[in-house]
Amino acid sequence: MARSQPYQPLLLRILHGVNLIVVLLAMVTAFWVYNIYDGRLIQLPLPNIPDMIGIHGTFGVLFLIVFPALALYSFHPGQKRLIQGDTINKLTAVGKPIWWYSLYRIINTVMLLAGTWALMTGRQMKEEWLPDGNLNETWYQLHLSAWLVLLGCLIIHVLMGLKIGGTPLIMSMFRRQYRPSDSPRLWRQKIQEFIKSRKETRQ
Ligand code: HEM
Ligand code: HEM
Repeated sequence: MARSQPYQPLLLRILHGVNLIVVLLAMVTAFWVYNIYDGRLIQLPLPNIPDMIGIHGTFGVLFLIVFPALALYSFHPGQKRLIQGDTINKLTAVGKPIWWYSLYRIINTVMLLAGTWALMTGRQMKEEWLPDGNLNETWYQLHLSAWLVLLGCLIIHVLMGLKIGGTPLIMSMFRRQYRPSDSPRLWRQKIQEFIKSRKETRQ
């Protein structure tokens, strides 16, 4: 692998990939639920699967498990790719590379907020609302908005990635090879070192 190619730490690739799969499955089943019970804006000729709410709920719970792991990674080792103290100041350099990088950091952070929004509103949903025809419940409307917010942010996140680093950056998230220094065998040691350094900084 050429040294100049973008490289993503293996742990990030795994957490990010698992989240991507779960988000996509949650969004597809979410649309299906909407299509069966609501369909006020658009309705597609999809078959009526009786337990779609249960299936969506299962992906929702899965997301609840995998998303905090990605967030934890992003807030600690991946911190540099999220919004920084000086990111907003750098937005004055409109059109310059640093401006694009700053926007990219903002959208990465917004992805975490959009995921949190979907989780928060999903947790407030009641399984019976849609089968009972309660389509005007506030939490349902808010949960619906999470679908649009996630889709919009996902599109911007990918387009911004393409703008900043083109296909090599996008593909770097999906590549299988990793550097020896990034081997899973060393993760335990790295986590221990991380916890130790946190304890030392607190003292
Ligand atoms: C068209 C948009 C959506 C509809 C109609 C919808 C529908 C529902 C329904 C009916 C429930 C209750 C299920 C239950 O309690 O078993 C639920 C829960 C949930 N949904 Fe959605 N959803 C939508 C979008 C999303 C999106 C985009 C995500 C995340 C990627 C998501 C994540 C969740 C989560 C985390 C729960 C809570 C699961 C639990 O704790 O039991 N939903 N959703
Ligand atoms: C097709 C879909 C996706 C693609 C192609 C993609 C691509 C990428 C790439 C290339 C990066 C690395 C940026 C860099 O090196 O500066 C990144 C970072 C990130 N992505 Fe995605 N992404 C996708 C979906 C998602 C989803 C669904 C989420 C959240 C649920 C997400 C959350 C994040 C976060 C939080 C970061 C920053 C990670 C860190 O702090 O280290 N992405 N994404």
